[in-house]
Amino acid sequence: MNEWDQLWIGAHIATMSLGGSAYGELSDAAVAIKGERIAWLGTAAEGQRHAAADDIDVRDAQGLWITPGLIDCHTHLVYGGNRVAEFEQRLCGVSYEDIARAGGGIQSTVRATRTATSTELHQSALVRLRRLMAEGVTTVEIKSGYGLELSAERRLLEVARDLGERSPVSVRKTFLGLHSLPPEFAADRREFVNRVCGPWLKALTAEGLVDAVDAFCENIAFSLEETQQLLEAAKSLGLAAHVHAGQLSDMGAAELASKWGALSADHLEFLSASGARALAAAGTIAVLLPAAYFTLRQTTPPPVALLREAGVPLAVATDCNPGTSPCSSILTAMNMACTLFGLTPEEALSGTTRNAARALGIQNEVGTIAVGMRADLAFWRIEQPAELSYGLGANPCAGVMHRGTMRAELI
Ligand code: NIG
Ligand code: FE
Repeated sequence: MNEWDQLWIGAHIATMSLGGSAYGELSDAAVAIKGERIAWLGTAAEGQRHAAADDIDVRDAQGLWITPGLIDCHTHLVYGGNRVAEFEQRLCGVSYEDIARAGGGIQSTVRATRTATSTELHQSALVRLRRLMAEGVTTVEIKSGYGLELSAERRLLEVARDLGERSPVSVRKTFLGLHSLPPEFAADRREFVNRVCGPWLKALTAEGLVDAVDAFCENIAFSLEETQQLLEAAKSLGLAAHVHAGQLSDMGAAELASKWGALSADHLEFLSASGARALAAAGTIAVLLPAAYFTLRQTTPPPVALLREAGVPLAVATDCNPGTSPCSSILTAMNMACTLFGLTPEEALSGTTRNAARALGIQNEVGTIAVGMRADLAFWRIEQPAELSYGLGANPCAGVMHRGTMRAELI
């Protein structure tokens, strides 16, 4: 049996491993794959020698750049309908919060999601998923949160699972039980929170539908105490957690996420120095969502300098959702992270590879190119990796490998 199945020669590899050169660059390099895993990394010359010795499928990478497959670590990909009418309303001066308080916003997507069939949900999400995949995405996190009743939340998570099983992409499923209070519980929010944190979470977890939980901790959504109840319940079930924190105001959600060891705190436009320090101390990743900031035409960007100074790892994601971020382009999110938030292109790429993997707790599997890691790779027709963040509406992706298998021939 061959030591390797495939050997790619003549690539520039951005390993995105920490230490060493920028982007963990290996120029004029080679990478070998065995099954689903990276088996060897070295120079093109060494690769050539191995290639001659063995009966391996030797492939010419044609001078392309190879990066880890991109990871979109925060999406609400599965939902019914759209919110284009609210887009128009917001342009006429109505705020996101006003729309939400008037029963629109997340609630309007909940109505459309509850009445959609699973097939409709699957088909509409697949269109968005394919756009992400075309841009080199090999792992996507998908949140529920537009069902807000047990059966509808289950359906969203099942659709998320099925998307991953039927497409060459890995899906992480997050139960966003505390997204918005559904109208049938308007008079009894405590009962809703109790159900989400109790029987609903238990049932969905037992069905294998939950990798992590999430809560929208915000004054138009759920309080610190309510969020804590979910984080506590998740911990007792051994589940990971994310928190929508500091999107519209600083309620101390980043501190809470840190206290409970959440994998990530997401948004963080409103974050204090002590919040940043708490994230750093807990090893909680800051997930930046510039397409939501852009769509809401916000004017207070996340305090990136503070996060850097505190040593908080930065991830970048699309937040793909019908309300605040109708964005199914990870490269656009990277561009916006640079242009709107001041990230360097290297930080943007770390944010959709190494740090996005950490935000999902899967950094030992994916997010960097190293021996033993899963062979999830993206091939790019670019001169230098900064080009991935530079273009707007360009897609230089020339090929994608998921679990050691090319999705299609190089283009
Ligand atoms: O990440 N902030 C809460 N959740 C989403 C928005 C969902 C919606 O408006 O439908 C977000 O921005
Ligand atoms: Fe979100």
